[in-house]
Amino acid sequence: MRKAAAILLGLAACASAPPVPGPNDSAGVRRGHELYMAKCTLCHDAVPPGDHARSEWPRLVDRFAPRARLAPEQKAEILAYLQEYSR
Ligand code: HEC
Repeated sequence: MRKAAAILLGLAACASAPPVPGPNDSAGVRRGHELYMAKCTLCHDAVPPGDHARSEWPRLVDRFAPRARLAPEQKAEILAYLQEYSR
């Protein structure tokens, strides 16, 4: 069941790659994107930030931060990126 979910997620993520921040974004958001692509793609493709609402991301990042072994500041930057580009 979990494996099936991960495969489905992978397919969904292929359809739209996560947006890359530009020069107008803060350094924290840009670092958050790099960290996100490095740390949150170990088990599945990067879930596009627009798949979840701004208010949903803190709960999701809390859930996966231990699995991705994030330091507190890495977690904060990844969350900043995801919320900036959430729906
Ligand atoms: C150790 C493996 C692993 C790592 C690392 C990992 N994930 Fe996941 N993730 C999973 C698995 C397995 C699922 C599908 C089952 C589930 O939801 O728990 C998943 C599902 C998800 C989902 C979909 C859940 C939903 O309800 O839509 C999101 C969003 C997500 N991960 C975000 C992240 C973020 C953000 C990070 C980085 C901080 C991350 N993941 C790192 C294993 C991982």
